[in-house]
Amino acid sequence: MSLTDWYCLLAFGKTETARETGTRYRKTETEEGRQRQGVTARQRQVVTTRQRQVVTGHDTTASGISWSLYCLAKHPGHQDRVREEVDMVLAGKDDEELTWQDISKLKYLAMCVKEAMRLYPPVPIVSRRITRDFVFMGHPLPTGATININAWCVHHNPTVWGEDFMNYKPERFSSENMKNMDPYAFIPFSAGPRLART
Ligand code: HEM
Repeated sequence: MSLTDWYCLLAFGKTETARETGTRYRKTETEEGRQRQGVTARQRQVVTTRQRQVVTGHDTTASGISWSLYCLAKHPGHQDRVREEVDMVLAGKDDEELTWQDISKLKYLAMCVKEAMRLYPPVPIVSRRITRDFVFMGHPLPTGATININAWCVHHNPTVWGEDFMNYKPERFSSENMKNMDPYAFIPFSAGPRLART
């Protein structure tokens, strides 16, 4: 398959040849269907994986950054502390000398980003299909049903976060406070085996 075909497949879901001939792309699970569209199973797998990474990686990151900047703009006191921390950690360094170790030293920035993701989780809801019957808090859940886990509600639960749950308070994520935090109280990257792997 040519490079152009790869790009077309990634962007439009079908190869350039298929586009030129007007072959309509339809999601197909059969090998025969894939062959008709000029795509092998392996190529389809590479493309869907890449599409998934592009979609899941870009939108979420853009949303996380945007809301973090929004929160800092609304709370100049926290913004000043972040700026002081960045100036201190990067004192005398050029941009190109920035390392992963430097980033891990930006503790207050991380707290501010986490608090923004608590208030505005980039992925507010994740869904799961039930694979075996079970009872959850007295409610029978049948096989095949879809359940939604609402991260927005979890992140705005007053019994977990207190009555001021709507307030932007990065100190909620200080290492001291995080020690006592329930591992499922803050789930912007989901939890369990399908946790976001960035
Ligand atoms: C602030 C940034 C991000 C947030 C909030 C985020 C959030 C999430 C969440 C909630 C899920 C789980 C969905 C589910 O359980 O159904 C997920 C899955 C995933 N994310 Fe992210 N994500 C972020 C960035 C990224 C980036 C940068 C990449 C890749 C470059 C990425 C790749 C993935 C992949 C591949 C999965 C699927 C994992 C699996 O199903 O095994 N994410 N993400």
